[in-house]
Amino acid sequence: MVVTPWEVKGKVDYERLIREFGTQPLTPELLSRVESRTGKLHLQLERQIFFSHRDLDTVLDLYDKGVKFVLYTGRGPSGPVHIGHLVPWIFTLHIQQKFNTRLYFQLTDDEKYLIDDDATLKETSHWAYENALDLIALGFKPEDTFIIYDTEDIDLLYDITLQVAKRITYSTARSSFGFQDSTNIGWVFWPAIQAAPCFIHKKLTGENVPALIPAAIDQDPYWRVTRDIAPKIGYYKPAQIHCRFLPGLGAGGKMSASMPETSIFTMDQPDAVKKKIWNAYTGGRGTAAEQRKLGADPTVCSIFQYYFFLFEEDAARLAERERKCKVGEMLCGECKMDIAEKLNRFLQNHQERREKAKDVIEQYHIKRK
Ligand code: TRP
Repeated sequence: MVVTPWEVKGKVDYERLIREFGTQPLTPELLSRVESRTGKLHLQLERQIFFSHRDLDTVLDLYDKGVKFVLYTGRGPSGPVHIGHLVPWIFTLHIQQKFNTRLYFQLTDDEKYLIDDDATLKETSHWAYENALDLIALGFKPEDTFIIYDTEDIDLLYDITLQVAKRITYSTARSSFGFQDSTNIGWVFWPAIQAAPCFIHKKLTGENVPALIPAAIDQDPYWRVTRDIAPKIGYYKPAQIHCRFLPGLGAGGKMSASMPETSIFTMDQPDAVKKKIWNAYTGGRGTAAEQRKLGADPTVCSIFQYYFFLFEEDAARLAERERKCKVGEMLCGECKMDIAEKLNRFLQNHQERREKAKDVIEQYHIKRK
């Protein structure tokens, strides 16, 4: 297993990540504290798709005392958005709505330019714009959603970035990120830029409040180095809540834009979706007869995971689908047809909203506020 901000490989052992990264599991006590604030737990908490955190308890303590948090998350715009990217954003929207709090969203065209050998700034900035449309399409409101395009808005981040960079040593950065002698120095400096939005709220409003970052767990090294230095420059340590990766449609591994045949992109058309789903890896048997007799294995099935993560909110119906699969009452063809339909309905709606987002995208830009 490899889990770094740049690479996720192999079968991810989430328990082990909690131990190795030194994060905390989301305990039932903590979840019930969240529930008392939000009402019924969000599906992603109930199903432990978000499974780990740092300082969520502290953030809730402060909230109870009247110190509101802000949300911060982001995206490295290296290409189109797939449905795996949407998972933490959907959760972020839920938290924003329940706690009525501001979101800072960083689009790191600079990071992707520095890290991907072949990328040009023109391409990564273009994808930043495209990816922002996907965020807006989910229903975030312009009043409390602040999108940061790094290369365009760097002047807003620069003083904070410098405060951060001055306090992270090369040796800390190297051991957290695995830099080599051949690593370009832009990449070495870059973590200070990802840290900056954790603290930008104070600069904009004068309020010193903690940031809560909902994101996949691969981003954790950034937060580790940021947390170490935050108190030294007068800020709260940023808190995190970490989610699992949505699997790709192949056998094992997360959904990854570099493997388009096993990823569902938000702009995919219905026929392409059907085709990818049809070729997906499942827990099915060699023949229909065998599967009717012996049943199948939903635990290794990529399709089942899509019901689990996104497309079957009803726990009883999900359990029924699982049961039917295991005993061979429902075969893969039917299950695949259902999910393709659900996906295409979701995507059609998303694509319409994404088109409308083009008219309002400027209202979200941190520079226009
Ligand atoms: N480094 C992230 C990526 O490559 C982008 C990012 C910037 C981000 N700030 C963030 C992700 C905050 C999650 C939370 O995708």
